[in-house]
Amino acid sequence: MSDGFRLGLFTTIVRPEEKAILGAAGARGIPVVRLDDSDVIFGLDAPSATADVVLNRSVSHTRALYAARCFAHYGTPTVNPPDVIEVAGDKVLASLRLAEHGIPTPRTEIALSPEAALKAVERIGYPAVLKPAVGSWGRLMAKVGSAEEAEQIVEHKTALASPVHAVFYVQEFVPKPDRDLRVFVVGDRVVAAMVRRSSGWRTNAARGATTEPLAPSAELEELAHRAAAAMGGGVLAVDVMESPRGLVVHEVNPTPEFKALNAATGADIAGAIVDHCVEVGRR
Ligand SMILES: Nc1ncnc2c1ncn2[C@@H]1O[C@H](COP(=O)(O)OP(=O)(O)O)[C@@H](O)[C@H]1O
Ligand SMILES: [Mg+2]
Repeated sequence: MSDGFRLGLFTTIVRPEEKAILGAAGARGIPVVRLDDSDVIFGLDAPSATADVVLNRSVSHTRALYAARCFAHYGTPTVNPPDVIEVAGDKVLASLRLAEHGIPTPRTEIALSPEAALKAVERIGYPAVLKPAVGSWGRLMAKVGSAEEAEQIVEHKTALASPVHAVFYVQEFVPKPDRDLRVFVVGDRVVAAMVRRSSGWRTNAARGATTEPLAPSAELEELAHRAAAAMGGGVLAVDVMESPRGLVVHEVNPTPEFKALNAATGADIAGAIVDHCVEVGRR
């Protein structure tokens, strides 16, 4: 590509995913402008154009969201768009959105005080799952088996005095098999899917789950497309559990890692992401 098109890559660190993205851009002859999320400074007036589109790969939801809003202010499109990052990156907003679109998802209640959180846990029943509204890798999630455990977890969360832990996201524990399903959607295409298996209840690849490629059923593909579209579309990893009442979507990741998925399936995920960025940048 030699028409001056430039891809901005907004990162915290360069992981295997970002290396693969740089490689895919290089293979397509697309120059990449590297933007480090700890260096950038945004003014109120548009700077001279830095890139035609910015791909967000920041590991911080807050940095990603504010940066995407600033790029939008300058008229530079981002992948994903700010509204998608905002909703999909926050489990409270994402659950509301999934419900609004009639997409099956685990029963969830949101409470804003420790007292209300304990009531919500009672209403959901045991075991219940408490999750931070913003987070990944299954971090700081708790499976709560009794009122006593709920009190202890809620007390700890309250002591953390952090805005993320001031909101209580309470969910039914879904008695899934020893696995969940991940479907990677780019634009209007499912580019890869896998099973993540673990002896623990959190099946994140980052926690050491083993992975296998998955040929998604028509039902799973349709569900993934609906969940991605509900968030506003883009590059989204849809996490699905096999619950006794059928497939349920528990998360739609707006800045997914894909090292494990790539290793499991051999799919060219980075290439699909770069092609999608070009499409968005040329709109
Ligand atoms: N309600 C639930 N019931 C049973 N397992 C769950 C539930 N919610 C999450 N999990 C397990 O924990 C993992 C991490 O949860 P998730 O909501 O995807 O958060 P994260 O953003 O940290 O990945 C899931 O992949 C799944 O294996
Ligand atoms: Mg997840």
